[in-house]
Amino acid sequence: MLRAIYPGSFDPVTYGHLDVIRRSARLVDELIIGVLNNKAKSPLFSVEERVKMLKEVTEDIPNVKIIPFEGLLVDFARKMDAGMVIRGLRAITDFEYELQMAQTNHKMAPEVDTAFLTTSLEYSYLSSTTVKEVAAFGGDISQFVPDIVADRITEKMKKESVDV
Ligand code: PNS
Repeated sequence: MLRAIYPGSFDPVTYGHLDVIRRSARLVDELIIGVLNNKAKSPLFSVEERVKMLKEVTEDIPNVKIIPFEGLLVDFARKMDAGMVIRGLRAITDFEYELQMAQTNHKMAPEVDTAFLTTSLEYSYLSSTTVKEVAAFGGDISQFVPDIVADRITEKMKKESVDV
C-alpha cells in the first residue's frame, strides 16, 4: 500500500494545487493532503476553513484524505505511516527551497522520500499569494481557483480588511 502526503498551507487551494492532487492521486493508493496549521503565521483562512474547502473541491477523488497537522512534516509522515511526500515544482525558483526541504526531511527521516511533480504549464505561474493579491484589489480570480473558493475569498475580503 503506497501512502503519500501532499503537504502545504493551501491558503487557499488553487487550480495549481488541484492539478498536483489529481495527478498524484492516480500514482498512489492513498493521498493524504496535510494542511499546515502554522501558529506563527496569520493565514487568510483558518485551518478548519482550509480543510473544509479542500474537502469540497476533492470530494470526487476517492483515495484522498484531508488532515491538518502542526510541527514537523516528517513527524506527521511517520504518524500517518506514509513513506512519500509529494511536492509540486512550478519553476526553477521553487527548486532551491524544495531541494533544501527535501534533503533536510530525508536527513531527519531517511524512510521518507520526497517526489516532485512538475506543475502543468497552464498553472506554472499560479500561487495562493498572487490569488489573494488579485482578489484584494478587486480582480477576477475565477480562472485561478474553483468557484466555491473564489466565493469564500470574496466573502472574507468583504468582512475584514486583510493583508496579503
Ligand atoms: O504550501 P507551502 O507553504 O509551500 O508548504 C510548505 C510546507 C507546509 C510543506 C512546509 O512549510 C512544512 O513542511 N512545514 C512543516 C514544518 C517542517 O517540517 N519544516 C522543516 C522542513 S525543512
